[in-house]
Amino acid sequence: MADVTKITPRMRQPADEAPTERPVRDRTGSTRFAEAGGFPRTRMRRTRRQPWTRRLVQENHLTVDDLIWPVFVQEGTAERTPVRSMPGVERLTTDLLVEAVAEAKALGIPAIAIFPVVDPALKTADGEEAYNPDNLVCRAAAAVKRAHPEIGIMCDVALDPYTSHGHDGLVRDGYVVNDETVEVLCRQALVQAAAGCDMIAPSDMMDGRVKAIRDALDGEGFERVLILSYAAKYASAFYGPFRDAVGSATALGADDKRTYQMDPANSDEALREVAIDIAEGADIVMVKPGLPYLDIVRRVKDAFGVPTFVYQVSGEYTMLKAAAAQGWIEGDRIMMESLLAFKRAGADAILTYSAVEAAKRLKQE
Ligand code: PBG
Repeated sequence: MADVTKITPRMRQPADEAPTERPVRDRTGSTRFAEAGGFPRTRMRRTRRQPWTRRLVQENHLTVDDLIWPVFVQEGTAERTPVRSMPGVERLTTDLLVEAVAEAKALGIPAIAIFPVVDPALKTADGEEAYNPDNLVCRAAAAVKRAHPEIGIMCDVALDPYTSHGHDGLVRDGYVVNDETVEVLCRQALVQAAAGCDMIAPSDMMDGRVKAIRDALDGEGFERVLILSYAAKYASAFYGPFRDAVGSATALGADDKRTYQMDPANSDEALREVAIDIAEGADIVMVKPGLPYLDIVRRVKDAFGVPTFVYQVSGEYTMLKAAAAQGWIEGDRIMMESLLAFKRAGADAILTYSAVEAAKRLKQE
């Protein structure tokens, strides 16, 4: 270690002699300030001492405008089925969904994402039900749109709710084929748009699907329908409870989605995925999962400056709820802290199963 008592004039930096408030740019381009003499004149705790200064210096805020609520819809009427692995989350029949959305709307939540629980009898190897214009998600989207035209509706484009094998695409010789799948995804996107879906969200990770879906939508007069691309979607074990909720887990079995979803080890690759999706016409890009991938959210936002959403996925929700139920953590505070962390990382909006709870808490604050 260098002996600090023996600083020679040559080693001395100009900053040591004349401390200034001039901003200094570090390697990452962020601004740092040379402190005015350092401690004890500099005391970081001054701005933290009272609530009013804390409020004034707060850099990021979570508001209800940041929330999208993912919901599960099932066949039938007046029935709710709890999702075993997601405490507090229920699959709702369309009539109850319409009621639940009324509450979300009243709280000011801008949009919902509808996920269908498809009858196993309708699941096939090629997932034809995905482009049945009268399928469950289309009927649910239409019903919600009719009752609540002001709330945004997002629908996933991917075949996993509809395939007997649980994959997001068509399987040929044991491989999820790309181009043939994209053709089916376009048909799926069209029936959803026709049903009243406002945001088409391809979550399948096939190559070239954003461009193909944009062309298909525009070709049918749906040029106003948004594309929210799951651009950087990782092959993650955090999706487990979701697959439980929509009933695709048993179909998938021990198989995984690593031949199309991203390797959790990769970061630069996410930027390339996002760049491609923007070039193909995505209006909004998304990173998924959320909390373990905040570094990706930040890189994407910094690199492209486009609307960047993040999905706090089922496993994240479940871990929090499970620990809170044991009384081991303060569930509500951790929920709000994690949502704020997404804002700090650069996310413009967050898909979260806690959207309604969070909106209620934001109202109380
Ligand atoms: C479908 C899809 C998945 C999720 C959203 N859309 C699961 C998957 O890719 O296997 C996960 C959402 C969550 O875990 O909350 N492709």
